[in-house]
Amino acid sequence: MRKVCQIFVCATPGEGRCGAKGGGELLAAFRDEVEVRGIPPSTVLRNVCTRRHEEGPVVFVYPDDVWYTSVTPEDVPGIVERHLAPMRVET
Ligand code: FES
Repeated sequence: MRKVCQIFVCATPGEGRCGAKGGGELLAAFRDEVEVRGIPPSTVLRNVCTRRHEEGPVVFVYPDDVWYTSVTPEDVPGIVERHLAPMRVET
């Protein structure tokens, strides 16, 4: 059975932080992507600052322990496919 993964997106506001680098738009893009694919919305969560915002916006996948840096909305479909697609609910 496929493990449950969650994607944590940093959208912390503030100068030089992920929110100022598009983290909020990125979070929205992840939420849209899982909705379109029929994946539970609880798989995408807003993360707090992990002090990696120089590489931001950053995304962390639990429990895969994979970090993505300088993530753009164009990266979202590939990340969802890699970590969450097996969770799609078939009807
Ligand atoms: S604001 Fe995103 S890691 Fe610090």
